[in-house]
Amino acid sequence: MSSLVVAIDGPSGSGKSSTSRGVAARLGLRYLDTGAMFRAMTWWMLRHDVDVHDPAAVAARVAEPLVESGTDPLGPTIHVDGLDASVAIRSDEVNAGVSPVSAVPEVRARLLELQRAIIGDGGIVVEGRDIGSVVAPDAPVKIYLSADPQARAVRRAAEAGGDVATTQESLLARDRIDSGRTTAPLVMADGAVHIDTTPYTLDQVISRVVALVEGAEARA
Ligand code: DC
Repeated sequence: MSSLVVAIDGPSGSGKSSTSRGVAARLGLRYLDTGAMFRAMTWWMLRHDVDVHDPAAVAARVAEPLVESGTDPLGPTIHVDGLDASVAIRSDEVNAGVSPVSAVPEVRARLLELQRAIIGDGGIVVEGRDIGSVVAPDAPVKIYLSADPQARAVRRAAEAGGDVATTQESLLARDRIDSGRTTAPLVMADGAVHIDTTPYTLDQVISRVVALVEGAEARA
């Protein structure tokens, strides 16, 4: 199992993070939250007064931030230039800026390199939008999680605070940009298993993914 890569993609609030962490913890694998890396890059741009809606301005600074991801599923970390950014990357400002920053090809290229370096020889669950399609297209297990927008907003609002209607609007706005961008849009990768998590508990979804991983291991 140590060389395994499990790719988990889907929109915000589909249950990706909780599922990915739970699967990694149960199977003794590492865990990488690539969304946190895009958020970290966005946070750095905002702190350095870069206009996040100006792709050329973002591209010009992309090599500067040092983004470090800790991969323990029980306590994942994200540092930017040595600073703990785990709380700051969940702010409204970052929520509003992260989709345009993520659409900049130079940002994606820089983070792709970092993501592949962390994945290394595997033993990891990786969550994002383009993991099964671009980052790790050879992953033996690819999952695409979805949930209806109302359920996603209720989950996100419960995690992050805020009201459900505003959260739902912000989720749908990000979905539109994430799915519509030219470079590595959110898509269901070839060979991905689609799980609509709406009617299931977190534990049921984790068990389903663990069973898929064990099935893939048995066939390998
Ligand atoms: O998973 P999340 O909501 O924390 O992701 C934040 C943003 O990062 C999301 O709006 C799109 C972007 N993202 C991406 O473009 N590619 C990834 N692999 C992961 C996230």
